[in-house]
Parts: sequence; C-alpha cells; structure tokens
Amino acid sequence: MPSRVGRVTTHHPAAVIVLAAGEGTRMKSATPKVLHRIGGRTLLGHALYAARQASPQHLAVVVRHERDQVAAHVGELDPQVVVADQDEVKGTGRACECGLDALPADLAGTVLVTMGDVPLLTGQTLVELTERHESSGAAVTVITAELDDAKAYGRVVRDEAGDVVAIMEYKDALAHRSAGDDLAHVVDVREINSGIYAFDAQVLRAALAEVGTDNAQGEKYLTDVIAIARRDGRKVSAHLVDDLWQTEGVNDRVQLAALGKELNRRTVEHWMREGVTVVDPDTTWIDAEVTIGRDTVVRPGTQLLGATTIGADAVIGPDTTLTDTEVGDGASVVRTQAEAALIGAEATVGPFSYLRPGTVLGARGKIGGFVETKNAQIGDGAKVPHLTYCGDATIGEGANIGAGTIFANYDGVAKHHTTVGRHSFVGSDSVLVAPVHIADGAYVAAGSTIEGTVAPGQIAVARSRQRNVDGWVARRRAGTRTAAAAEAALAAQASEAPSGQAPHTSAPTPPPRRAE
Ligand code: UD1
Ligand code: CA
Repeated sequence: MPSRVGRVTTHHPAAVIVLAAGEGTRMKSATPKVLHRIGGRTLLGHALYAARQASPQHLAVVVRHERDQVAAHVGELDPQVVVADQDEVKGTGRACECGLDALPADLAGTVLVTMGDVPLLTGQTLVELTERHESSGAAVTVITAELDDAKAYGRVVRDEAGDVVAIMEYKDALAHRSAGDDLAHVVDVREINSGIYAFDAQVLRAALAEVGTDNAQGEKYLTDVIAIARRDGRKVSAHLVDDLWQTEGVNDRVQLAALGKELNRRTVEHWMREGVTVVDPDTTWIDAEVTIGRDTVVRPGTQLLGATTIGADAVIGPDTTLTDTEVGDGASVVRTQAEAALIGAEATVGPFSYLRPGTVLGARGKIGGFVETKNAQIGDGAKVPHLTYCGDATIGEGANIGAGTIFANYDGVAKHHTTVGRHSFVGSDSVLVAPVHIADGAYVAAGSTIEGTVAPGQIAVARSRQRNVDGWVARRRAGTRTAAAAEAALAAQASEAPSGQAPHTSAPTPPPRRAE
C-alpha cells in the first residue's frame, strides 16, 4: 500500500518484533501462511513494510514453522532484519521472548510487537501507537478495536474506572462462562485485542519471565504481560482504532481474499486521489508497489502487478495485465499481457499483444494485434503492427515489420539474434532465420525466408517466382463450381476480346512480372 507516513515524529521505537512463527493450519497450504500474498506482497512483507515506517533501531522477525523458507524470504526483503528462532515452547509470549533474546541484552525504551499475518496495519498507525505510548507514560499500550462480533479474539477486560486490567483469551473466557464465576461476562466484551502493542522493554522482559502456560491452550500468552504489569502498579493504556481492517488477521483463504480485496480498494482509491482515472475500481487490481502518473486512465479489467510503473497521460486497458512493466508517458496499452517489458513514451501496444520479458519498445513505437515479443529491442517509432513473433531481436528506429513476420530465433538447440536496421522494411509473411543481419535502409520482399545478411540499400527477395498454368482448373477440377466460374469468365473475355477490355467482375490474368 502506498501509505506514506504523514508527519515527522521524534518517537522512534527501540525495536519492532514481528511474530511469524505460527503454523497457520487453517490455510491448508504447503506455503507458510505469512508467505501468502495480497497486493503482490507477502503478508509478512506488509508487516515488515509497516514496521520499517516506524523507523525502529532494531527489527526482528520470530520464525519457527517452515523456518528456512520464511527466513530466506525475510533476507530477500530486508537483510537488516534480525531473524529470531522460537523454540518448542508455544505461544505468542514465548515468541516475543525469543525475539527479545535475539536483540541486544541492554535494549531499553519502546518495543512494538506486531503480527506477521495482519497485513493492513499501516506504518502510520505504528507511529501513532509509539507517540501515544511514549507521551502517556504507559508501560504497555495495546491497540484494540470494537467489533460487533468479537469472534475468537482476546477480550479486553477493564475495571470500573475503565482502565485496562487484563486481556482474556476467548477459550479462557468461555471456560469462565461455563464455570459461571465472576468473570463469566468477559466473553460478551466486544472490545478485542488486536495483538499489536507497545511495551516498555524492561517491563516486557521481566513480565515474560513470569508468564506460565496454565491456560486453556497450554501456551505462554503474551497477553498475560498486561495483568502482570498492572499487578506491579504499571500503567496500561488502550489505543482504540476505528479502522477495523488494520487489526484483522489472516487465518484462512476466505480472509486472505477479503483482506486482499480491501487492500486493493485502498490502493485504487489512493491512485484516484493522486489524479488517476480508474473507470471501474471493482475490476481493477493494483499491487502495493505500483506507481501511476497523473491523468492516466485505467480501463476495466486491468491488473497492474509487481513493480509496474505507469507514466502520466497513459491509457491502460481494458483487459490488460502488466507485471513488472514500465510504461512511458502518453502510451496506450490495450488488451495486452506484458511482463518485465519497457514501453516507451507515446508508444501504442495492442489489442491482443503478448510482451514477454526483455521487450523494450521505443518512444512512439508500435506493437500491434496478435504480436508476441520476447527479448526484443524495438527502436523509437518502429512498428511491429500485426501477427508477428519477434524474439531475440534488435529493430532500429523507424523500421517497419510487415504483417505475419516471424523471427525464427530457435534452431532446436540454441537461440540466435536478429538485427533489423534503422528505417528498414520487412515485407509481410517473411521468416527471418536467425542469426540474421538486415542493415539500415534495407528491404526484404514479402514472403521471403531470409537466412543471410542484407546490406544497406538492398532488397532481399527469397521466394520462388510466380508460375501460372493455363487450363489447370478445367483439367484437374472439372465439374466444380470453380471450373464453371473459370469457363464463364473465359467466355466473357473471349466475347469482349475485340475491345481488349476484360469485365471487371472477373480477375484478369496477371501481367507478366517485371524482372527484378
Ligand atoms: C492472539 C492473541 C489474542 C488476539 C489475537 C489477534 C495471544 C495469546 N492472543 O490470538 O488476544 O486477539 O492474537 O489476532 O497472544 N505466533 C508465534 N508463535 C507462537 C504462536 C503464535 O509467532 O507460538 C504468531 C503467529 O504466527 C501469529 C501471531 O503470533 O502471527 C498470532 O498467533 P495466533 O495463534 O493467531 O494468536 P491468536 O490465538 O489469534
Ligand atoms: Ca490469529
């Protein structure tokens, strides 16, 4: 999400610890939950992005389930992140403790704890949490939200004065209800624990050392730190957020889709507010890292994915998918699939074009209908307008590639390169059998199969000459409608022969071809 931190803050946490060791069984997936993606970024990637925006001195991620895979991903995203391993002791409290153990022993100040599976939390919210926590003098500040249905979230327990005294897990709240004791009402509380907190580092460390596993799940709960801090006379605050999506975690694929859709809604809205026309926000998908210039129009059914960047005044779509593709100002890309391509300013692409990695189209160039390109540098103003496969090629500025041209780049063993020079012209239905070099200012005649160099100023003709066989239809297709049509046309020609003018409804015999 292009969520920018809105204002300068002097409150920077000492550390952010992102909990990501859980298994995520409800995803029913071979991929660890935190590596599932929305908006083109993993759930953990979103969590790390937000954490970075809080400008912490240290950033740690706690891992265990599929540890190597998650650690490798973290290393790719941000090599500065400390990867902390959780041991066999279960629970968010133990995870947090393992995170602290991986950080300097004398760590002091504010430690934020976030979750690897809560992707819509913004850096701005973490900045606000830190500010609020530090200016209130609380030892613990927890982000809470009020839900109509508190589901399985931990409940926030407040005293008569309204101060937070504890967080009770759902299963434990259920047990109190069953027991009918004086905590039986807690299960009905609608204020929930988001699982995102600011702690004083020393209070956190000391309290975690005391937390046990005597609860409904037999886990070491991070939430128990709150009651311990209260017992020790520390101040605990709640930071109630209105934007419920920011606290929502992903547990299964239904939530993954719901959060992905909401993230997209926010991203699309962001770009509309930045001056981009999005004709149909409901069918437009824009990944978190995409950028789009002003006055660009995005038409329905468009997906802008990965590190795609779009200039200003461009027209994209309908029905276009661009992945890691750069589009220049004023370009038009219609019904196109492109990946790792570069489309120059004012170039036109589509409809029905397939641009594979390494396609570079120059300014004002054209890739037209039913054209596939791959590793092809197409110069400024050059045109590949119709029905072409163009792979492993360099095409000079202003060159024109005729309809149906094939760049035959593969000989069954290796790929080879083709060059077409500046302002050269390749006639329709030609095959350029690579490696081939066509110089600047050269022609290839339509229907040629080119295997050798064409020098500047030459035309290469590589096809068999036309041969007309009189009477063939009458002999070989006697009795057909074609034969009858031929007979009628020849009779009409014969009757008009004196005037020397064949009727225009029947094709005349072609004139003898010029010597070439
Ligand atoms: C936790 C909170 C609950 C809160 C909810 C918000 C506790 C005890 N409960 O419950 O109050 O309402 O989050 O979503 O903290 N994790 C580890 N190691 C573990 C267990 C979990 O790293 O041993 C990580 C998970 O990867 C996940 C996060 O901690 O990112 C939350 O774990 P989860 O098991 O989903 O906690 P909840 O039971 O939902
Ligand atoms: Ca959860």
